[in-house]
Amino acid sequence: MLDWELAWSRALYGPEGFFARGERPAGHFRTSPLVGPVFAEAVVALLDRVDHALGRPARVDFVDVGAGGGELAEEVRQRAPAGLAGRMAVTAVDVAPRPARRLPGVTWRSTPPPRVVGLVVANEWLDAVPCPVLVRRGGGWCRVGVDAAGRETVLDPVDTTVQAWLEHWWPVGERARGGAALRAEAGTTRDRAWCSVVRTVRAGVAVAIDYHHLLADRSAGRVDAGTLTGYLHGRQVAPVPDGSRDLTAHVALDASAAAVHSVVGEPLFTTLTSQRRVLADLGVVRAVPPPALAAADPLGWLDATARSGGAAELTSPEGLGGFGWLVHEVALPVRVLAAGHRDTAA
Ligand SMILES: C[S@@+](CC[C@H](N)C(=O)[O-])C[C@H]1O[C@@H](n2cnc3c(N)ncnc32)[C@H](O)[C@@H]1O
Repeated sequence: MLDWELAWSRALYGPEGFFARGERPAGHFRTSPLVGPVFAEAVVALLDRVDHALGRPARVDFVDVGAGGGELAEEVRQRAPAGLAGRMAVTAVDVAPRPARRLPGVTWRSTPPPRVVGLVVANEWLDAVPCPVLVRRGGGWCRVGVDAAGRETVLDPVDTTVQAWLEHWWPVGERARGGAALRAEAGTTRDRAWCSVVRTVRAGVAVAIDYHHLLADRSAGRVDAGTLTGYLHGRQVAPVPDGSRDLTAHVALDASAAAVHSVVGEPLFTTLTSQRRVLADLGVVRAVPPPALAAADPLGWLDATARSGGAAELTSPEGLGGFGWLVHEVALPVRVLAAGHRDTAA
């Protein structure tokens, strides 16, 4: 039996771990960069706003953290407008090896660059950062142990850091008295990971995009069973830490927002909003092409239809459109996101 957090780390990032040996999201689940070019175009629109806010400097960074197969970095590189492309430094950061295909103009690294002026995007990264997995026992939280077949046991009570995080961010109140098998995942490791990335931004924007829950969800018991799960070849499967599958849990993005505010000294403006809202702000619209276009310009009609389908998928409230966007605008003289997003009081 291993502590779940350690078993999770080994299963994904150990010597023969799922991501460490080069498995890519494209083979197992669908992420926004895999939907098509619409997502990358929105990211380019955001990068252009950041570049404008920075005063169009001689060099502007685009950093994709947890880059997977490098699809987003590649598309952003290719789709940047001429005025930006020549000044852009594109970096894909992943612990996985560089993909075999050529990625012209993209630097591949295993750690984030130390100093960024521009835009950092971490799409579905934090959910893949292993974190403490806990169960409520005898009036307190205990760590959960697991073996390679997924059989679980209850381990020691949590330490004071995890305890403090849970008390603040995952309050179970009266439900703890009912004897129900409450579970939780503490976001301590995600908060630290995200802070270390935001700290690299000297000026610009850092965005974490992920499936998430908020304090209101956790307090109300909407995630009392925890969210730890697995993905394999396009299907959701049991979370077994044997290296065969992705292991993931939803991210407490509000906790990460607060953590950033407590450690990042730069002038900072934070917004926690949804992908649906940000993409609307960035000009993504679902425009169904007129049927007459099919006869006049069949290829144009096909392209417009694919784009419309992509926009619909990326903004669906039940799917990718419901993902949280945690946006930190760092040391910028003007705001980058339009007014009207739900701002955090972090
Ligand atoms: C769920 S995938 C998302 C991939 C891509 N962003 C996308 O949306 O298609 C998470 C990726 O984060 C990478 N990753 C996890 N921890 C990392 C770390 N500490 N540094 C760099 N990459 C990491 C994994 O190897 C994996 O490729």
